[in-house]
Amino acid sequence: MDPFSIVADLEEGAFAKSSRMVRNVKRLSSLREIFEDEADYQKSLSREDRVVYEYTRPVIPPEPGQLFFGTSTIHPGRIGREYFMTAGHYHAKLATGEVYLCLKGEGILLMQNRAGRTRHFRMRRGVAVYVPPCFAHRTVNTGSEEFVCFYCFPGDAGHDYESLKTRGFLVRVKERKGKPSVVPSAKRREGRNRGGA
Ligand SMILES: [Fe+2]
Repeated sequence: MDPFSIVADLEEGAFAKSSRMVRNVKRLSSLREIFEDEADYQKSLSREDRVVYEYTRPVIPPEPGQLFFGTSTIHPGRIGREYFMTAGHYHAKLATGEVYLCLKGEGILLMQNRAGRTRHFRMRRGVAVYVPPCFAHRTVNTGSEEFVCFYCFPGDAGHDYESLKTRGFLVRVKERKGKPSVVPSAKRREGRNRGGA
């Protein structure tokens, strides 16, 4: 493919929409199992099927040697005390990393590996976080405006969402006394009761 350049909208933080770019939108209805407070999820959904997050990225072939990159925008909001967040994923090609650079807003990047090791990093404009190979990752908007990140990962990495559906993330980001707090997930306890997953 030919080299190209694209432009970020510096007001919005994200890459500007153009014919080269595609936009993927995730609404509340497509994120049924990720939030802990099912009752508030149903209540919120009955009011409006809100956009929780979206990606804007150029079309690049999913091939070895290519790089996938773009901007992710998580809108502000909560389900119960839990902040709006991405579904989170491992890469299908597990041993591939990723880098995130915050362009706007504030949030937290959660990571977890298959051994159950978790890490989290608070992000604001200018903070870059490196996700090493073999770590699942999820971004969470803990602020009152859009949380926008630039991301880049190998073009043949792919996405594995299924592995996280059985066990989920071991920690969650919730509002406590007006501040974001990283706390153990209730699903973690369920997983332990079942002997883990
Ligand atoms: Fe990723």
